[in-house]
Amino acid sequence: MSEPVAEPGPNHEPDACLVDHVDVDRKVASGGYKWTHRAPGWIPAFVAEHDLGPFPAMQARVREVVDLGGFGYHSTVDHMIEAFCGWSSRRHGWTPDPALVAPNASVLQGVWSCVEAFTQPTGAVVLTPPIYYPFYDIAESTGRRLVDWPLVRDDDGWHYDLDHLAHLLAGDPGIQMLLLCHPHNPTGRVLDVDQLARIAELATEHDVVIVSDEIHADFTYPDAVHVPLLTVPGAAACTATVTSGIKTFAMGGLRASVAAFGDEDLFARYRQVPEHLLGSPNRLGCEAAIAGWEQGDTWVDELVALFDRHRHHLVDRLADELPDLGIHLPQSTFLAWLDLSAFDPGDRPGHWLRDEVGLDCKDGPLFGPGGEGHARLTFGTSTAMLDEMIDRLVAVADSGTGPDAVDGEFR
Ligand SMILES: Cc1ncc(COP(=O)(O)O)c(C=O)c1O
Repeated sequence: MSEPVAEPGPNHEPDACLVDHVDVDRKVASGGYKWTHRAPGWIPAFVAEHDLGPFPAMQARVREVVDLGGFGYHSTVDHMIEAFCGWSSRRHGWTPDPALVAPNASVLQGVWSCVEAFTQPTGAVVLTPPIYYPFYDIAESTGRRLVDWPLVRDDDGWHYDLDHLAHLLAGDPGIQMLLLCHPHNPTGRVLDVDQLARIAELATEHDVVIVSDEIHADFTYPDAVHVPLLTVPGAAACTATVTSGIKTFAMGGLRASVAAFGDEDLFARYRQVPEHLLGSPNRLGCEAAIAGWEQGDTWVDELVALFDRHRHHLVDRLADELPDLGIHLPQSTFLAWLDLSAFDPGDRPGHWLRDEVGLDCKDGPLFGPGGEGHARLTFGTSTAMLDEMIDRLVAVADSGTGPDAVDGEFR
């Protein structure tokens, strides 16, 4: 099965606006995990990374630093933090205090630093399954006990049950941390301000630190609003927010992120984690993040508008053409949480889709309770590629035929 030989994509002109196009050859040649970790012909929809980067000004800045040979120790961190605060203020109405923002290499490093800073080895951490599966590694790598606070499902998607959280916290004094994924990967659920205020109130009452992973916040669509937890009354004294530009600007390989606080004491506790565990960002990651956060507004507006159209298109086409597949409209993220149970996909539904129709999605069971029969699909791609993905999904109705039976342009 051979791949098409495509012309270089217009995306890569430094001055270009967002272009709704994926140049497969270029993606493969650039060596990213998403586009190389696959057999020819598979469409990769398993990584939570969109295909429409790089943001041209970011690429230009990184190229400039490379041309200058700027590879030594660096001092761009403060500038990156300023750029982050400016972006948060413009995009989300939250102006963090730069003195209470710490840099690190990745959001997961920030999460693990918080586990170290805010929990005892015998303490417990609450997760919200079905949930971004690396969070489950906390148990094995730190020995902390995990407590599930599962989202509940109805016809409108997945929801938080705050009474259940109150019950869990009241019954388990070992709980020391609540790890929120806000907005939620994989369901795309967004917590509103009243829910956030109630969560902060419960955390304060039970002396629990909330770690709010807000990495997907920029992709919140018009029917919801992303409320940064640190803007919610009562949250500052119990919240650490971890985030970065890597989802927005598809720059996961560049390693630069931040942990932000609204309270000096909590920040001081975080800073007690040894410096080399807290980590530090890569120079090129800082430069890329600065370019994105300072210059990316228009490009990101276009990107979010495109993915807003994508989520409707995906849900509408599947409702018409494959009504047995369960899907809801995500309020945020470029991820769709597909319920394939009607097709009996076994215990690896993502692999099943890959093997049946050449669409490589993430296995739902990895995400814990609520993941059975599900697969996570990344719709952060071009319109043409999305239609090819949907064609393949629709073909599962004739599953058993294998990917060769799917007629598509991508291969
Ligand atoms: C919710 C969430 N947090 C963290 C990450 C990973 O971020 P990093 O690579 O900076 O650790 C991802 C990536 O998919 C994610 O979806």
